[in-house]
Amino acid sequence: MSTTVSAHKRIEKNVTLLAALSFLVVAIGGIVEIAPLFWIDSTVEKVEGVRPYSPLELAGRNIYVREGCYNCHSQMVRPFRDEVERYGPYSLAAESMYDHPFQWGSKRTGPDLARVGNRYSDEWHVQHLVNPQSVVPESIMPTYAFLRERPLRVDDMAAHLRAQRRVGVPYTDEQVEHAQADLAAQADPDADTDGVLARYPKAQARDFDGDPRRLTEMDALVAYLQMLGTLVDFNAAKPQEQAQ
Ligand code: HEC
Repeated sequence: MSTTVSAHKRIEKNVTLLAALSFLVVAIGGIVEIAPLFWIDSTVEKVEGVRPYSPLELAGRNIYVREGCYNCHSQMVRPFRDEVERYGPYSLAAESMYDHPFQWGSKRTGPDLARVGNRYSDEWHVQHLVNPQSVVPESIMPTYAFLRERPLRVDDMAAHLRAQRRVGVPYTDEQVEHAQADLAAQADPDADTDGVLARYPKAQARDFDGDPRRLTEMDALVAYLQMLGTLVDFNAAKPQEQAQ
């Protein structure tokens, strides 16, 4: 009998030795996988265009979470051909790096919403949320008409930004300071929006709910839906990909 076989036999017959050596092997594998995570800042590669949500978008996102839209809608386009053809470019990890909690989901009673931004008009969204069956007769989506009547709460916006900052979203002091004003300006067609646009590039500023006199939860939710998946410029990314 060769020495390798007898050594093997010794390990297999000695439970303690087998356990100790198994532990050693698993520990080495674990260290190789886990240790690098302590030295890199982030496992998510930064992508140009991705920025923290503007206060109005964040308020809309809070309503989305509060109403449980995620029970029927995912927000992640998987990298499969059928998904990409239906929804658009597949989702990048960086696109949800400022989501706390993220909204990827796995349940799709309705379609994925990761790229719904700019696909429909604001009027369509308002009409659809007020009475989904009036635009999609076979829809089973519930009505959210009350959002048009509920005034948007604005006084706690700076606190929301600070809370996000606690969990790692890089809001600056300037952004926190202007949170409430930025929130109002983004939904007001007459407001000076230079500040909001400088602080949140690509933010869409206008009245969203069809009633410019009031700032409602509908304004915030539609503003959020209209920006989903629009921050990264996939057309600009294409030629680079092909060149590689
Ligand atoms: C009970 C499940 C259900 C819930 C809850 C739900 N939806 Fe839907 N949603 C659907 C279904 C089904 C459709 C597809 C038919 C239609 O367009 O109405 C849909 C469609 C949509 C669309 C159109 C997507 C597209 O690409 O055509 C949007 C936008 C949308 N929902 C937003 C929301 C928002 C925002 C909420 C929360 C306020 C919400 N939904 C809650 C089921 C749901």
